[in-house]
Amino acid sequence: MKKICVVGVGYVGLVTGACFADLGNSVIALDVDEERIENLKKGILPIYEPGLEELVERNVRSGRLTFTTSYKEAVDGTEFAFIAVGTPSGVNGEADLQYVASAATSIAETMTGPMIIINKSTVPVGTGDWVADIVKRAQPEPVDFWVVSCPEFLREGSAIGDFMSPHRTVLGSLHHEAAEKVAQLHLPLRAPIVITDLRTAEMIKYASNAFLATKISFINEVANICEALGADVKEVAVGMGYDKRIGPMFLDAGLGWGGSCFPKDVLALAYMAEEKGLNPRILNSVMDINYERRKEAVALIEAMTEGVNGKTIGLLGLAFKPNTDDMRDAASVDIAQELTAAGAKVRAFDPVAMDVAGALLPAVEMCPDPYTMSQGCDALMVITEWNEFKQLDLEKIKGLLNSPVIFDGRNIYEPAVMSAMGFKYRGMGRGFNGR
Ligand code: UDX
Ligand code: UDX
Repeated sequence: MKKICVVGVGYVGLVTGACFADLGNSVIALDVDEERIENLKKGILPIYEPGLEELVERNVRSGRLTFTTSYKEAVDGTEFAFIAVGTPSGVNGEADLQYVASAATSIAETMTGPMIIINKSTVPVGTGDWVADIVKRAQPEPVDFWVVSCPEFLREGSAIGDFMSPHRTVLGSLHHEAAEKVAQLHLPLRAPIVITDLRTAEMIKYASNAFLATKISFINEVANICEALGADVKEVAVGMGYDKRIGPMFLDAGLGWGGSCFPKDVLALAYMAEEKGLNPRILNSVMDINYERRKEAVALIEAMTEGVNGKTIGLLGLAFKPNTDDMRDAASVDIAQELTAAGAKVRAFDPVAMDVAGALLPAVEMCPDPYTMSQGCDALMVITEWNEFKQLDLEKIKGLLNSPVIFDGRNIYEPAVMSAMGFKYRGMGRGFNGR
């Protein structure tokens, strides 16, 4: 059992803290947001993540997981301090590290004994060295510490599973023994552990996310070619995925990626390259293709409805992906705003994200369920592939719509089935497939 503190109880920090507690460690989770901490002490979580409420409750009850806003309390006697604060994009796309600096400074000012400081947040290559300088300068008295990079590979909606069964744990440090100690924390996960230097570990994270984003933009470009040539990209992806060198995952064509990671991480990696005078052509194209998807979707629904002005359009799903309430860079925001600007009345239903989305989309009418929303709509758009949309009573939906028009931004329906039911249906990349 080790004493661990986690700074930042967002999507990454709260999952990290709760999982380390569940492995038997004593974890104290800190945040500067007092309301967030007060709520957590009452069992109210700041985010929706499947399974997290029960995991937090169980570990709080066992006394392994506690919450505080006091760095002194969090750091006292702690051997490991994970920094999991936000690293949002700055104005030019660079990662904004002010919160990392603030966390590192506060740890340095309060640490009482030797400590391993671990960057869990996604930070630009070279940040580990920078954090070490901050800590050294901020310490009132020199106290031994070592910096380790331990990037997170958590997907929202499956974060607990991703933590407990990682494909690999990546550790980077200039001090091998410090990395080895952090490796010990991860042994119960029984996954491969890659130990390298700080910069390489930081780069593994960016390169991994940028590759996954590239895979998605690749299949989205193929989707447009499929559409033009009469092939079904969904089946193309199946045929490709059996090749072990390609793999079946992250080949779902549609509205593309959003969230708090891919957008920020691809942008940051391109920025790091350009800072060094390089031209990240692929990364820039990956971003261009991705954000075009949202414009293409609006153009398609405009064509399907012969103009959205004065029409009512219903959005099925708002969150950037299923099983989360996270609206950060969600495609729904751009699409809803463009439709409203084009004179449409926009309605929406999302099983989880409507509270968060309401603040971002005040002009959108939030509806209690897909059927109520469909009543009187001129068209529907599938924006987020929540499971509950996959078996909707489409006959009932058809009867509620003014006109049977569905744009499927996540290709959850089959073109042949939809046309047989009398829908005017468009997916993204669903050429022919009349079978
Ligand atoms: C963040 C980054 O976005 C991600 O790239 C990185 O890999 C992990 O950290 P996330 O957990 O989604 O991911 O951040 P967010 O949900 O914004 O939570 C950050 C938390 O840090 C917030 O609760 C915020 O209050 C807290 N925080 C911020 C601090 O505790 N101290 C600070 O100085 C600033
Ligand atoms: C991602 C990485 O997967 C994770 O390893 C990293 O730690 C954080 O960033 P996350 O952003 O939570 O995780 O979600 P993910 O499931 O990767 O989806 C990212 C975006 O890509 C979503 O908007 C999703 O809708 C989209 N996506 C995903 C596709 O458009 N097609 C796909 O095939 C897969």
